Amino acid sequence: MSNDENGRGVNASDGTPEPYGDTGRSSSDTYATSPVPVDNETVAEPIPDPGLGEHTWRPTDVDPKAEKRAERQIAAMFIAAMVSAVLFVVAYFTLEIGDNWDTFAGLGASTVALGVTLGTSLLLIGIGIIHLARKLMADAEMVEMRHPAASPPEDREATVAAINAGVEESGIGRRPLVRNTMLGAVGFLGLPGIVVLRDLAPGDALDIDRLAHTIWEPGMRLVRDVVGTPILASEIEMGDLINAAPEAMFPTEENGYPELHGAEEQVEKAKGAIIIVRMNPDDITPAEGREKWTVDGIICYSKICTHVGCPISLYERTTHHVLCPCHQSTFDLADSAKVVFGPAARPLPQLPLSVDEEGYLVAQSDFNEPIGASYWERAKHEQRLKA
Ligand code: FES
Repeated sequence: MSNDENGRGVNASDGTPEPYGDTGRSSSDTYATSPVPVDNETVAEPIPDPGLGEHTWRPTDVDPKAEKRAERQIAAMFIAAMVSAVLFVVAYFTLEIGDNWDTFAGLGASTVALGVTLGTSLLLIGIGIIHLARKLMADAEMVEMRHPAASPPEDREATVAAINAGVEESGIGRRPLVRNTMLGAVGFLGLPGIVVLRDLAPGDALDIDRLAHTIWEPGMRLVRDVVGTPILASEIEMGDLINAAPEAMFPTEENGYPELHGAEEQVEKAKGAIIIVRMNPDDITPAEGREKWTVDGIICYSKICTHVGCPISLYERTTHHVLCPCHQSTFDLADSAKVVFGPAARPLPQLPLSVDEEGYLVAQSDFNEPIGASYWERAKHEQRLKA
């Protein structure tokens, strides 16, 4: 075999390039059928002929031009990935979270830009690596014999002896005070990891008062979700369940509510979501102090599950049970939305109802307890709101 101008091997007989890498195989090779040495013993090949066809070299193995082309394609993907990563950093610093909140399909400019740039970068790196493996890495079929997974007994004995010697030398076994305090110190290292979870609270992480209140206020009308039309108490049929929202989420000149934007609008919309149902007033078991929170059997609760905050929706009118589709928590709407099944730990908060002079449903006040899933200091806020 001689070499071409790139230093690559060339077949002396016909001048065709030899494949890159010393694979130790040629296109006419088949699987070894001879006995294979394992741990100084020679055992017979378990499958003499596994049935693989003759090996075929890829174009990039035998054609230098194809190989160079593949190299350039792969490098171009990696360069594009770098550019995309830089664009991610630019987007992070230039686009404010909460601004341009509906740039694309209801998503904010920041969210879209960060997702697209990071996703593109990862995708290009992935595709580049796959191309590298498929086109340029050595193309060799190999046989690897299986060996026992466990280490030889002498290795295991040596390891145990080394550990015991280390324990003996450290004196840990003879000094329980040092051993126990050391274990305690390592265990306490987990505390910072738990404490920083507090930062997962939304918005200003420590402004937990924000979680305790919603946009509902005395006299605010209940309006149909999506369309925003006010709801007459008289138009709700027995057994109906209506998804509704605070009127403030549909500001007009007439109602005078200020327009909300971006993250603030989304937060208030999520926190203010409610369901309204009508049932026979005799079926309702009002909790103490809630005797006047309903209107002719019309009763209203937060739509946000108290387990981890999914929107509940599946209503069974005969039992007055409503089911959360996420983990099947079930609440009895006739009995203060108490939990009758599932992982939720609290009833759904109830919104006190009344009607205005035109017969439209209005809230008597905000919820008297925080809505949604549990969080730090929730019990404290519940006490404060009820006081
Ligand atoms: S979020 Fe409703 S049951 Fe889990």
